[in-house]
Amino acid sequence: GTTLGSAAARTGRYFGTAVSAGKLSDSVYTGILSREFTMITPENEMKIDATEPNQNQFSYGNADRIVNQAASQGARMRGHTLAWHGQQPGWMQSMEGAALRQAMLNHITQVATHYRGKIYAWDVVNEAFADGGSGARRDSNLQRTGNDWIEAAFRAARAADPDAKLCYNDYNTDDWNQAKTQAVYRMVQDFKSRGVPIDCVGFQSHFNSNSPVPSNYQTTLQNFTGLGVDVQLTELDIEGSGTAQANNFRTVTQACVAVSRCTGMTVWGIRDTDSWRASGTPLLFDGNGAKKAAYTAVLDAL
Ligand code: XIL
Repeated sequence: GTTLGSAAARTGRYFGTAVSAGKLSDSVYTGILSREFTMITPENEMKIDATEPNQNQFSYGNADRIVNQAASQGARMRGHTLAWHGQQPGWMQSMEGAALRQAMLNHITQVATHYRGKIYAWDVVNEAFADGGSGARRDSNLQRTGNDWIEAAFRAARAADPDAKLCYNDYNTDDWNQAKTQAVYRMVQDFKSRGVPIDCVGFQSHFNSNSPVPSNYQTTLQNFTGLGVDVQLTELDIEGSGTAQANNFRTVTQACVAVSRCTGMTVWGIRDTDSWRASGTPLLFDGNGAKKAAYTAVLDAL
């Protein structure tokens, strides 16, 4: 029968989900996973605190379990994430300056080398820009190592895994008229003009009543591709229920399909009960694993 993955593949796209290693023993979960999805992002298992819990001691067990699941079902992997202010291990949180810069680059080199050839796209840097109207970088220990930390991260990732697509990933970059969106756009434009290796921009796309799907979402995706990068919807979830939620999922899916370099989309979990959101029903399957109206809307729009 038709699935999200096979429907997306008709136009050369993938359809992915975030996966938690701890749920791979749940047969309802893995049943939907292997049936519907052609791309997998580890929800937490490739983050810095998971892969380097102590400095220079790397821990790949849970991430490798997810990579093995992907291989067993013929799905590809998005790697998430090599450099981020969030979910840093304690040792990194307390570092600064040149030592932190070196630790970040070593982390990127080690992890990207471990997974070399197995990752379709890496979120090399996650969430490096501030919210609000400033268009500034987010303050973080990584940012305080120098404004060039992002390009240094991308160069290290390219050297370690030359065939992986290298993405910048963020949220609240969906509305073309927002300062944060414009600031990321200018960074990508600058990287392209100076030959800094970047191949894609990920739009997390966590939508809710405070952060609704903007009317110019497709324009934003299209404009970024004008810089010569692919775009991807990397962590899609939309609060709500019923027809209203389904309509929002349809709009978002249609936007990706209308943009030739929107190469695929990933939802941030399988069932509503798998969502990182403390409450609400933001995904495509209900807690029993049944397809919601939002599922049908996405399938029809692919
Ligand atoms: C979230 C996970 O879903 C949670 O399990 C974890 O507790 C916190 O992180 N932006 C990102 C993701 O880039 O890594 C976040 O994932 C959600 C927001």
